[in-house]
Amino acid sequence: MNPELSTAEQAAITSGSDFWSTTAVESAGLPAITVTDGPHGVRMQAAAGDLLAGVPATCFPPAVASASTWDPELLRRMGEALGDECRAMDVAVLLGPGVNLKRSPLGGRNFEYFSEDPILTGVLATEWVRGLQSKGVGASLKHFAVNSQETDRMRVSADLDERTLREMYLRAFHRVVTKAQPWTVMCAYNRVNGVYASEHHWLLTEVLRDEWGFEGLVVSDWGAVVDRVAAVRAGLDLTMPGPDATGDQALADAVADGTLDAAALRASADLVREMILKAGQREAGSYDAAAHHDLAREIAGRAIVLLKNDGGLLPLRAEGQSIAVLGEFARTPRYQGGGSSQITPTRLDDALTQIQASTSAAVTFAAGYDDPAEAVEAARASDVALVFVGTVHETEGADRDSLDLPAEHLALIEQVAAVNPNTIVVLSNGAVLLTSPWEARVPAIVEGWLLGQAGGSAIADVLFGRVDPSGRLAETIPVRIEDHPSYLDFPGEHGHVRYGEGLHVGYRGFDARRTAVSYPFGFGLSYTTFSYGVATVSSSPAGLEIRVPVTNTGGRDGREVVQAYLSLPGSAVRRAPRELKAFASVPVAAGQTVDVVLHVERDDLAYWDTRLDRWIVEDGAYLVEVGASSRDIRATATQHVAGDPARVPLTAESSVGEWFADPRGADLLGELFASAAAGAGDSTMAAMASDPGMLMMLNSLPLSRMAMFPGSPFTAAALEGLLKAVND
Ligand code: BGC
Repeated sequence: MNPELSTAEQAAITSGSDFWSTTAVESAGLPAITVTDGPHGVRMQAAAGDLLAGVPATCFPPAVASASTWDPELLRRMGEALGDECRAMDVAVLLGPGVNLKRSPLGGRNFEYFSEDPILTGVLATEWVRGLQSKGVGASLKHFAVNSQETDRMRVSADLDERTLREMYLRAFHRVVTKAQPWTVMCAYNRVNGVYASEHHWLLTEVLRDEWGFEGLVVSDWGAVVDRVAAVRAGLDLTMPGPDATGDQALADAVADGTLDAAALRASADLVREMILKAGQREAGSYDAAAHHDLAREIAGRAIVLLKNDGGLLPLRAEGQSIAVLGEFARTPRYQGGGSSQITPTRLDDALTQIQASTSAAVTFAAGYDDPAEAVEAARASDVALVFVGTVHETEGADRDSLDLPAEHLALIEQVAAVNPNTIVVLSNGAVLLTSPWEARVPAIVEGWLLGQAGGSAIADVLFGRVDPSGRLAETIPVRIEDHPSYLDFPGEHGHVRYGEGLHVGYRGFDARRTAVSYPFGFGLSYTTFSYGVATVSSSPAGLEIRVPVTNTGGRDGREVVQAYLSLPGSAVRRAPRELKAFASVPVAAGQTVDVVLHVERDDLAYWDTRLDRWIVEDGAYLVEVGASSRDIRATATQHVAGDPARVPLTAESSVGEWFADPRGADLLGELFASAAAGAGDSTMAAMASDPGMLMMLNSLPLSRMAMFPGSPFTAAALEGLLKAVND
């Protein structure tokens, strides 16, 4: 109840007062609070007029990198640190995390999103939210929902079937909402199956609130609301940015003329008021910029993925090995993407300085892209050549048009590799790049993503072996863009994009088609090696517990990311060949064995049954594959899981095949066919029922249609009897 707010005040409080503030209602003692981006730093606008210039804050690794750590604990610590920075800057709600799936590697905001897998995304984002909110600062889970491209992003309709929507695109949102209750959920710009997310009653109310029990408020993405009244009616509470006097008036008018239920506006205003009051409880704070920089460095080091390391070229020695550092990115790092998440860092490490500080041997630098001759000479004269290349620009608002390196970067790799066999490529990119055109020419590749402000030192940590590379791919690197499951239907046209690959997003699609990839989902090398023992699985009502001993068989301490993929051979519904269901990043000292325990939640085994309109765990023997990547399975086990009761009532429209698939239906129909075959019915039916080939053909025939055949035993009375007997 919100008795002290008039309708006009209720309308006003449900829109912002400026770009980053809610509307104060002084008579009710409600101040304005500040919300700001997010997600990998606090972007507090420094001065009016320049949206992107922010107060300095720690630029942590963007989600493309933090997801590659596969370590929820690191995400929680990042969330806590962000919470401290928000308190220091008087920010009440930080606009993140972004949990949309990376449907296509061309997606322009992939650097801000975690993965092509919903469980990896959901587990990591849950910890980020828990960490942030433990400091009394709210999160904004975005962009709800199906916001997986930038092309026509304010209007495009993502068209997809309900299983795909629920099992893939809503799954991470569901996990974060039910486990961490973010203060806010941000609706997406796009439409979902034709309806704007900001006006989507099914999404915002039926699913988010009624099914999932979301208790916070729904805020619009900035400028996502087309029609305030329709949005409030659908379940959107706060429209940003503001002010929006016209929309406020439209809401008040709609309540007055009865086209909007007064209770709907009051409920939204109540939620905004609750958020403001909750935000008022947090204490002001401060943060240790040096400690946060160190945390950014730790996360960045753990995010780097070692893709290739022939002959153990890496790690580099700290002495006696002269190094050519080539490529401007070594001196001027690419460390974050463009758009709303762009942070003004408190400081910025570059790899060149950090490499120089890591070795007593000679280090020569050449910028490389425009003056390759100097770089080639430096490479020729050095023991090792490090070539820094990557994407030049990735930003919110635009998808990429290719997965290729810029031509001059590619040329630099080729020319350097031609004169120095010890060429190591270090990549900087917010989403995957093709390695297939050039990877055979170099012995080592380090995937350095966009690593945030401490990326330069983190790269040196990994190159010199101070940190064992334990980053793993959260997205597949394809051989060609044409192979990608999304390829034929991205980015759509004329206002629609069809999610034609359905459930087979990312590795699910590559695995289903057995398509070769350059580097599979979950892949990443270490400086040491691991072996896996026998996996054992036990089942309880909560889910599955998987145990597997992992031994560090190399000479260095390291960290393995153990991954459990599940499938159900013979499932009655279409499924991907394997789906990630649990994982753990585990430190293992040289020579040691660690018993790794993974938990698969029963709910994560469920598929969405479109006939019953609910989640169903299918009964059966599940195949559990434990491995070091989706294509490097080291141990397998099979575990029976008792299914949920899921009987679909049989009707006259159910087919013969469906009747036979149902135990009671099979008995009853079998009897009827047997008596027909025994001559009790028409001779045609008898012949059909006794011929196995004919029976196969009959499988697709609904009983009601069979009843129309001459001499059929399915008289109206017989059908009625059957239906009563089978469903009672
Ligand atoms: C982005 C959001 C962001 C908002 C506020 C929008 O353009 O899509 O992610 O939080 O702006 O900056």
